[in-house]
Amino acid sequence: MRHLMSPLDFSVEELDRLLDLANDIEANPSRYAHSCEGKKLATLFYEPSTRTRLSFEAAMLNLGGSVLGFSSADSSSAAKGESVSDTIRIISCYADICAMRHPKEGAPLVASMKSSIPVINAGDGGHQHPTQTLTDLLTIRSLKGRLGNFTIGLCGDLKFGRTVHSLIQALIRYPNVRFILISPEELRLPDNIRDGVLRKNHQDFCEEVRLEDAMPELDLLYMTRVQRERFFNEEDYIRMKDFYILDREKMKLAKEDMLVLHPLPRVNEISTEVDDDPRAVYFRQAQYGVYVRMALILTLLEVEVC
Ligand code: NCD
Repeated sequence: MRHLMSPLDFSVEELDRLLDLANDIEANPSRYAHSCEGKKLATLFYEPSTRTRLSFEAAMLNLGGSVLGFSSADSSSAAKGESVSDTIRIISCYADICAMRHPKEGAPLVASMKSSIPVINAGDGGHQHPTQTLTDLLTIRSLKGRLGNFTIGLCGDLKFGRTVHSLIQALIRYPNVRFILISPEELRLPDNIRDGVLRKNHQDFCEEVRLEDAMPELDLLYMTRVQRERFFNEEDYIRMKDFYILDREKMKLAKEDMLVLHPLPRVNEISTEVDDDPRAVYFRQAQYGVYVRMALILTLLEVEVC
């Protein structure tokens, strides 16, 4: 039985197969409409979510399966003090696969050790968000035509943003990827990723504070929200929250085929005037999230579709 805790749990070849499957699902949805009939997905969300939880649910429903779960710790027995390990033992009796989001780093890993069904990490604190990374890889490969041979700017809250941490780890496995890390001093990438992942793997990267300076070089711009819920005090958040605002003026500095991605939700970091720019692909990215989660469920449940 396999779980998904980190994007590195799949080899590059396995990832290629998963993304191929997601593209086939996009092209032939009816072929997959009954492939998980009789199977149940549990969504255990101890932290707020719109896209991740609902895209998992939509994915399972599109496959003909059913869903159950909870969307906040308050509405589960966690409020009574139940441990994640006990909860997962119970959920293993009710469902065939589960997606778990938790504010504590490592909670889904603890759950996976006690689980008799596949557990998918749907975001653990500021640590990892592997299914967002699968979504990002599918979006980049589908719309850019390749994984590798590009310069990507990662902009915003690189300290607390788990999507960025997972994406960097996944992208260093592809050839010739250059990273420009764009953040205020206080929200720079944590040392364990800068030194432990980028430097350790001799990856080409640089750090910038001004988005305008990086813009002309980018093939991809990955914008992120300042992660309010992970700040220790509100004043720091207020000082940082509007540090970057991508608007039409800044988009004029970008290449004509640069793509703008964002895991969403957006707050102010992308002005709505950018939404109509053909280079803004963040809403399409959310759609790719459903296809890739369908592919992931099929893969972890080892369902063969002929
Ligand atoms: C991201 C997350 O939860 O980390 N959202 C998502 O899953 N699409 C990004 C964020 O909350 O800023």
